[in-house]
Amino acid sequence: MSQLLCFEHRGAAGHAPENTLAAVEKAISLGADWVEVDVYAVEGELLVIHDDRLERTTNGVGYVAEQSLEYLRSLDAGNGEKIPFLWEVFEQVNRRTGVNVELKGPGTAAPVALLIDRWVKERGWRYEEFLVSSFDHHELRAIKHLQPKLRTGALILALPLEYARFAEALNAYSVHPGVEFLDRAFVEDAHRRGLKVFVYTVNRRQDLARVIALGVDGVFTDYPEIVTSWGIGEG
Ligand code: G3P
Ligand code: MG
Repeated sequence: MSQLLCFEHRGAAGHAPENTLAAVEKAISLGADWVEVDVYAVEGELLVIHDDRLERTTNGVGYVAEQSLEYLRSLDAGNGEKIPFLWEVFEQVNRRTGVNVELKGPGTAAPVALLIDRWVKERGWRYEEFLVSSFDHHELRAIKHLQPKLRTGALILALPLEYARFAEALNAYSVHPGVEFLDRAFVEDAHRRGLKVFVYTVNRRQDLARVIALGVDGVFTDYPEIVTSWGIGEG
């Protein structure tokens, strides 16, 4: 097996408040290859948060998209952490791992493409150090059109009849299925099409064993220790 890539889900969400700078730092200290974060656009700024509402992860209320930037930045996202700007995540990572930006909110493709272009042109990052993913395949198509050098990853919630064909049509780099329904036919079809397979969210060792046996290229996890310790005591 070639090396299994470890994507730390929402930072290291099993160990720190998800999608915060603390979670990002924790992910890196735990040996992440990639840090995955979710983004919304508000008042022209990109904010890192998973839900469309504030209640679960912050002390705020309401929909993210309906709040002012000032209000959102005043909130506690856990242990005194703020909802970070995406550029703060890039600075925190500082090229120690790759950054997987998941486009959650509408209208995120264009500002994310712009920000990554800036980081490549002004900060010396390479396009390959970013991976932009989304369940919204229209946003993915848009960002690939805006910056063809950018790698994209197509997220899916179900098993499509034509397996990974849609991801090839998107000219994606990778396809990101959920662990619940992944099967061998899907992995083989994706590989035949030249796509990497990165599976979310793998938090149990028995799931990790299963997806490794299926030949996936990487996993998203809240608990990177199950990946970094893999092979110790396993067959
Ligand atoms: O990108 C993998 C995973 O983060 C997708 O699901 O809902 O945790 O963003 P979600
Ligand atoms: Mg995500």
